[in-house]
Amino acid sequence: MKAAIFAENGGPEVIHVAELERPEPGPGQVRLDVRASSLNHLDLWVRRGLPVEIPMPHVGGSDMAGVVDAVGAGVDGVRPGTRVVVDPSLDWGWVEGLRRGPGLHEPEFRVMGEHTQGGFAEYAIVPADNLLALPDHVSFQEAAAAGLVGVTAWRAVVGRGQLRAGERVLVTGGSGGVSTMAIQIARHAGAEVWVITSGEDNGARVRELGAHHVIDRTAGDVKGQLRASLGGRGVDLVVDSVGEALWGTLVRALAPGGRLVLYGATTGPKVETDLRHVFWKQLSILGTTMGSPVEFRAAMEAVFRGDVAAPVHRVTDLDGVRGAHEELEAGDVFGKIVVVPPGS
Ligand SMILES: NC(=O)c1ccc[n+]([C@@H]2O[C@H](COP(=O)([O-])OP(=O)(O)OC[C@H]3O[C@@H](n4cnc5c(N)ncnc54)[C@H](OP(=O)(O)O)[C@@H]3O)[C@@H](O)[C@H]2O)c1
Repeated sequence: MKAAIFAENGGPEVIHVAELERPEPGPGQVRLDVRASSLNHLDLWVRRGLPVEIPMPHVGGSDMAGVVDAVGAGVDGVRPGTRVVVDPSLDWGWVEGLRRGPGLHEPEFRVMGEHTQGGFAEYAIVPADNLLALPDHVSFQEAAAAGLVGVTAWRAVVGRGQLRAGERVLVTGGSGGVSTMAIQIARHAGAEVWVITSGEDNGARVRELGAHHVIDRTAGDVKGQLRASLGGRGVDLVVDSVGEALWGTLVRALAPGGRLVLYGATTGPKVETDLRHVFWKQLSILGTTMGSPVEFRAAMEAVFRGDVAAPVHRVTDLDGVRGAHEELEAGDVFGKIVVVPPGS
């Protein structure tokens, strides 16, 4: 089968299309005939090199939608030919503390396409437990664009963020894959939505997704723009993945009792916090990563209902994965780049 792979860490140039052996499903697994996958910022971190062991040569792509092609031993209730989308989280029980008894530390939480081979290929092996049937009216591309970003945004806004109707929420990195979903989820929940993004075009697009107020970080003085827009009252929830570049501004923007939910650190992980803001305003700083199987289903059902949709920046083939990395790295993408293998 054809796959977009890399055999060493580095820049986008390490990615190329190669011929690999078609994998066979083991017990509890299925082989997916991949019809669509999509690029996430995670693919950039994995390609550059993380302090985690990954299979080499590596097939990226945490998101997958396709048709069940073959089932392994012990798989009941999943028939070849079924249209599915794949939950990219593996061993979620570790996150919930379900597997932290003595001697039961393993396996730690993992992500498909990071710790395992992903969907930038004609076929992929996935656990049968991670499959969610795809309704006929939802395309493979829509589903593959929405999976990882949808579950992450859902948990950040609804699960960890506990956003309620009428609250004020601030989403950073507005054009990002997760953020474009978070904006829609927050708007749908009945919140008043502020978004920090870059440039007029992205500003117009995030408004179309539901943002009430837009801060253009490329226009300078983000803190001043935000202060003027908020009019003396802070936000109840911040949903951030930008990290270093905006941290101090975000902590200041929170109202008393506010929550800051953090799921990434695109601009760097080392921040300085004026702790007086944290205790005086009684703030909660909450980390979050991906989401549970229940949250994945909830996010995808919102997609199936048409409440939210991942904006598709463009669709490319396996040969285009390298270019897609370059484009996402340059910050030129609004939403998601979808990858389709040959014949899809
Ligand atoms: N913990 C988790 O479960 C989880 C899940 C998914 C992603 N993540 C992490 O969260 C981050 C976002 O992921 P994604 O896939 O949505 O990424 P993405 O599509 O690449 O979006 C990142 C966005 O960050 C903003 N940004 C980039 N450079 C910036 C800067 N210098 N200052 C301010 N904003 C900047 C840009 O938005 P604007 O130009 O609109 O400002 C950009 O579109 C990544 O770091 C990713 O690794 C974590």
